[in-house]
Amino acid sequence: MTDKYAVVGNPVEHSLSPEIHAAFARETGQDVSYGRIRAPLDAFKAVVAKFRDEGGSGLNVTLPFKHEAWSMAGSRKGYALDAEAVNTIKFLGDGLEGHNTDGIGLLADIERNLAYPIGGRRVLLMGAGGATYGVMHPLLAAHPDLLVVANRTPDKATTLVAHFRKFERLAARGLSAKPYDALAGESFDLVINATSAGLRDEMPALPAGVFAPGALAYDMVYGKETPFLKFAAERGARTADGLGMLVEQAAESFFIWRGVRPATKPVIDRLRREGGRRKDEGGNK
Ligand code: ATR
Repeated sequence: MTDKYAVVGNPVEHSLSPEIHAAFARETGQDVSYGRIRAPLDAFKAVVAKFRDEGGSGLNVTLPFKHEAWSMAGSRKGYALDAEAVNTIKFLGDGLEGHNTDGIGLLADIERNLAYPIGGRRVLLMGAGGATYGVMHPLLAAHPDLLVVANRTPDKATTLVAHFRKFERLAARGLSAKPYDALAGESFDLVINATSAGLRDEMPALPAGVFAPGALAYDMVYGKETPFLKFAAERGARTADGLGMLVEQAAESFFIWRGVRPATKPVIDRLRREGGRRKDEGGNK
């Protein structure tokens, strides 16, 4: 019997997840279907219950329901515990198991696909919203030299850093929050943009010297060259968008549901080729 999965969000029409999971299913020979469900903003819980009652096996959760999914989860696994956000639900009998695969996806893309190990690097993470919460613990678990979180509204970065303080020891020189103007004179090996600025063709107010020689600039937005990536390329940094993260977080969800790890590179390559012919853009939100 075909096992049913779907992505729930609002909006969800442009999600690439159905296409990614269909490719994984073909490649691994798994008998699954994967749809798209737009939940009314006040009815996420009811939509999840209905999907399960109709025999669904699991869900991906996207904007703006990740925190609500976390609140609903009877058991929270791994990185979902501290992210306070769930992007993957697995139904178990009457229970609902919540996972967060966003950070694992980001790490897989940077360390494996881009061959850029994070251990010992100076890392700057921009933004203090849900996307940042989702990747903080996995980033620290990669043992950077230091992790600085910068945000336009500095108080939000301070609150976020306090929330993850218990993992500070994972970074050799610790964890801190800074406003953008305090970054002048500092340089980083890895600069990650977890803000939504690029979706509106904006970028955080970064000082020009922020990229160390050989630095990687990573934007969680995909399908377009954001002002941040353009700024980084002009200053000699290597650049990457968030398409690989999107596919890698999907692969981790697929593994949680099916116990099988799909190959990601053919899917990333195909979406990248097709990106030139169609206009799918978005963020890992
Ligand atoms: P998400 O859950 O996707 O992270 P969010 O909670 O709305 O979304 O957070 C968006 C993040 O992008 C915030 O860190 C926001 O900064 P503020 O906290 O100061 O609002 C950041 N952001 C959005 N537009 C930005 C811009 N033009 N420059 C800098 N930061 C921006």
